[in-house]
Amino acid sequence: MIKDIANLHAKLQILLARQKNLYNQGRVTNYIPALAEVCPKKMAACVATIDGSSVGAGDYQEAFSIQSISKVFGLVMAMNRIGDDLWQRVNMEPSGQPFNSIIQLEWEKGIPRNPVINAGALLVADVLTSHFSASKLAFLSFMRTLAHDDTIFIDNHVYQSELSHGNRNAALAYLMKSFGNIESEIPDVLSHYFTQCSIAMTCEQLATSLLFLANKGVDPITKKVICTPRDAHRVNAILSTSGMYDQSGEFAFSIGLPAKSGVGGGVVAIVPNYGVICTWSPPLNSFGNSVIGTNLLANLAEELGLSIYH
Ligand code: DON
Repeated sequence: MIKDIANLHAKLQILLARQKNLYNQGRVTNYIPALAEVCPKKMAACVATIDGSSVGAGDYQEAFSIQSISKVFGLVMAMNRIGDDLWQRVNMEPSGQPFNSIIQLEWEKGIPRNPVINAGALLVADVLTSHFSASKLAFLSFMRTLAHDDTIFIDNHVYQSELSHGNRNAALAYLMKSFGNIESEIPDVLSHYFTQCSIAMTCEQLATSLLFLANKGVDPITKKVICTPRDAHRVNAILSTSGMYDQSGEFAFSIGLPAKSGVGGGVVAIVPNYGVICTWSPPLNSFGNSVIGTNLLANLAEELGLSIYH
């Protein structure tokens, strides 16, 4: 499906070189102190396609903190485990608020707007904590299976840093518990959530691990069913409307692909029936999305003619 690998590799390198003047337009996050230690000049892009090819450039084989990108995998695990019951406890609408906002959650009686804002991901973490005897291990093993790579690891330094600066997430979880929408004990939910956010992966591993969402729920390489076609559709729909938080409208308008960002600077975009693009650059814009990662995606999508709205 990548017709000319050498040509795409050359394109990626040219696009990466073009981003260098954008470093100063973003700020590396520091509310999780360990993430502020990452070199702001790291930059990568990788394209993986459903025929099993992949092409990367820059630091695409260097592991970074996947952070909120983990919410996509948690959502799939929770959908597989409890099915439609999930949608009694979390909504599927854009929030129009920052990813870690608490205001809306009180108005809406502890039901998060969607599963990819922090409140929604904590709800999903509660589902996983309550339904798996060892949810953190199950999560890590799911990631390793999807990426076909047993070396994927939890970065304990990032985990400890999140745990000691996690008061806002704790507030979201306790507020939901006060409305009866959290089953497990809050420290267990937070521990699961911070663990999944602290997983370190490369652009290449992330792009590979999400191929099932570009292939109606089936891992195109192993042919293993990861989720139903209906759930793959639903996850892609949520990523299209909410994956880039309050920048999702602009992202759909200018790029047109289901996508998810993380405060580690990673961005993944699903191209149905084609593959997955993953970009990485740590400086973030005011929405918490990678400045260069988003711009690189825009450039690549345009260059390759990729959009779900064509
Ligand atoms: O809970 C948090 O705030 C972080 N562990 C994850 C947030 C995040 O990645 C938002 N994405 N851009």
